[in-house]
Amino acid sequence: MMRTPFVFVSRSCKAVHRLQSFSPISALWRHQRIDVLRYSSTHVCKDDRSYYITTPIFYVNAAPHLGHLYSAVIADCLHRYKLLKGFNSKFATGTDEHGLKIQQAAEAAGKDPLIFCTDVSERFKHLFSSCNISYTDYIRTTEQRHHEAVKHFWSVLWNKGLIYKGSYEGWYSTQDESFLTPIQVGDALDSTGKEIKVSLESGHKVEWMKEENYMFRLSALRSQLLDWLKGNPRAIQPERFYRAVLQSLQVDLPDLSVSRQSSRLQWGIPVPGDAEQTIYVWLDALVNYLTVAGYPDKHDQWWNVAHHIIGKDILQFHTIYWPSFLLGAGLPLPQTIHVHSHWTVGGKKMSKSLGNVVDPLERTQMFTTDGMRYFLLRQGVPDSDCDYTDNKVIKVLNADLADSLGGLLNRCTAPALNPAQVYSSFCPQFFSSEQRGRAVVEDYHMLEDVKNLPAVVEQHYESMHVYKALEAISACVRQTNGFVHRHAPWKLDNRDSEDQRWLNTIIHVSLECLRIYGTLLQPVVPEISNKLLSRLGVRPHERSWADLNFLPGYQGMDCPFEGRALGSHSGVLFSRLETHNVDKQKPKKTKKLK
Ligand code: MSP
Repeated sequence: MMRTPFVFVSRSCKAVHRLQSFSPISALWRHQRIDVLRYSSTHVCKDDRSYYITTPIFYVNAAPHLGHLYSAVIADCLHRYKLLKGFNSKFATGTDEHGLKIQQAAEAAGKDPLIFCTDVSERFKHLFSSCNISYTDYIRTTEQRHHEAVKHFWSVLWNKGLIYKGSYEGWYSTQDESFLTPIQVGDALDSTGKEIKVSLESGHKVEWMKEENYMFRLSALRSQLLDWLKGNPRAIQPERFYRAVLQSLQVDLPDLSVSRQSSRLQWGIPVPGDAEQTIYVWLDALVNYLTVAGYPDKHDQWWNVAHHIIGKDILQFHTIYWPSFLLGAGLPLPQTIHVHSHWTVGGKKMSKSLGNVVDPLERTQMFTTDGMRYFLLRQGVPDSDCDYTDNKVIKVLNADLADSLGGLLNRCTAPALNPAQVYSSFCPQFFSSEQRGRAVVEDYHMLEDVKNLPAVVEQHYESMHVYKALEAISACVRQTNGFVHRHAPWKLDNRDSEDQRWLNTIIHVSLECLRIYGTLLQPVVPEISNKLLSRLGVRPHERSWADLNFLPGYQGMDCPFEGRALGSHSGVLFSRLETHNVDKQKPKKTKKLK
């Protein structure tokens, strides 16, 4: 039998430094330009072991839906992954509670706005704790610490001459809390057949508004934004969204209205020194990322290593407005803005009026928390929208978690094959080209693939392609199942000492594979991974990225697990789901907020 080379490759940290190019500058903005040099994402002084990840903060005008959970699960996965890598990671989420939309929703519910916001914010918190979203800070924009941060931020922009009193006349969408140019607006009919104007992107109704308010000099920052993006081609990912933003910067940017008259909008933070005006909700909301970092007090440790997760619908706010505000305020820009696409139902956007909103809490009760987390990350592709069906969830979870991973664990720990219930020993002789070797070429391929798996998974986690990481893990699980089937350990004669040693070796290799899969899966399915690793007898301090040394016995090194008692059996890893458990997918009305 041929021995396939099995090479252990050491991975080094891939720090990428890029040179930045800057175009000529006008005297007016020279001081700002210096800020770009000092503060753009590749030039900040970073603490290499700190990491700061954020979700968007969620509007509290309606109950949480599947899309919200998706943003949170992606961020949670990256946060847990960084912890496994030994980082000091901060993970922020929370709720966006000001603005006209929330003011109107509270009015419609006949509630005091703060009570209304608290109720819905608690629903998000409840969803997140049910789904093991392990945030380290939950921010609400109605908190005092946030008001202080926003007021300070506003004053910095004001003192730099970047905000001026002016007037805005144009389209506004309250649903999106967004200003639109005429080419972003189209005609539509409302439910009564009346002609209305809508945002072409979101489909939400827009209204013409004309108001005296404060304007931000966005127009002056366009070339600096371009410099930032050209110098940091990985700042917005996936690349498709990076290119879209670059494209949108090919034309002039209008200045941006950053306040509303308080006669129309009371529910917000008043403009410092002008109680007649309320700060624009997006400026208010975006500053939440700084508030959590500690701004206006010491915030560099976190702010210099900030990464945002956002859905594609809020790209412009995070890639044009937010960096411009930060450049204006002389603050570093985020390291990465990871953009994800949307979940649709029946090919359509989820919406209350269509009655196709998927309730994430209900689904986690049907499919378990880890089941939903796994499904969202296994099927969610950042580049394009995905359609949700319960049947798809059942198929994916049964195939990957119940049959493939669960089946493998079951086989290797079953008392019939492993009566001593130990992490059995490895005998290198079977993996040698000498006469008594029993491994075949496919086995060596498997060893190679599992050995390389942590590096593959790391690369995909880092670029938020979690589905690719899960695909790679799944492929290895299938290979390990193939390995067990190929050698059919149940057919070996346990009275023959050589057969018994080969049986132990097969089990050992399979348990080692499972240990690697369980460790790598922790960011995605923390409960299942915990169950799996505990069953293998892997202790909590042996589950980090540094513990991913696969099959040390094959290299002539000691395996710390060999001979150890397995952990106790606490039930199947993941119970198969039956289709009859699931209602026919009839559209449902979401619960109205009272
Ligand atoms: N409040 C703003 C964000 C302010 S951040 C400074 C907001 N809130 S939101 O509640 O409408 O959306 C929060 C997140 O949920 C966004 O990332 C959005 O893209 C995401 N999703 C909303 N619907 C979604 C789907 N159908 N599918 C996937 N994600 C979606 O925008």
